[in-house]
Amino acid sequence: MDNNTVRIHDKQFKIFITKEEIRSRINEMGWEVSKKYKDLKPVFVPILNGSFMFAADFVRACSFDSDMMFVKIKSYDGMSSTGNINLELGFSGKIKDRHVVIIEDIIDTGNTLVEFIKETEKLNPASITVVSLLLKPDAVKHDIPMDYIGYRIPNAFVVGYGLDYDDLGRTLPDIYQLDE
Ligand code: IMP
Repeated sequence: MDNNTVRIHDKQFKIFITKEEIRSRINEMGWEVSKKYKDLKPVFVPILNGSFMFAADFVRACSFDSDMMFVKIKSYDGMSSTGNINLELGFSGKIKDRHVVIIEDIIDTGNTLVEFIKETEKLNPASITVVSLLLKPDAVKHDIPMDYIGYRIPNAFVVGYGLDYDDLGRTLPDIYQLDE
């Protein structure tokens, strides 16, 4: 094994997106989002756990007034989406008439987001948009607002930069892809 591969549980992963590439793409995304939201004082809503690292870097690339509310959803088991959305931690404050910017690490089937957006809409926000570092276009099953996407990636499992494989791999600074 070298620096370009890691072993997690029973699987081997190879380097896919480096931390330098991630940093530069996030700066571009921050710039894009700033153009629309800089005067709207949006509320950033990172979906835990996976998006914590991306959210921390992304909000620092957005230098305008905003606040944050974290929510926690569990929908994954091992390497597959369970399709069941379990909101383990909900909004901690008022969403009505606010511009909500949901922060996701990755959109796979889109099941998590579509359900979460439905829940959010019930609270009558002024608008809802989604920022996701990664998107698997071939896996998405729903029509989701996808205005701000970092990378469109193939349908292979990835870990690192907040993303885990059965609770391991989250703290890796780069993103790795399953090496099959
Ligand atoms: P979805 O509901 O199928 O879109 O899955 C969304 C959630 O599943 C993400 O927020 C991740 O937490 C997790 N997930 C989806 N694909 C991957 C992956 O390739 N690696 C790690 N976690 C993933």
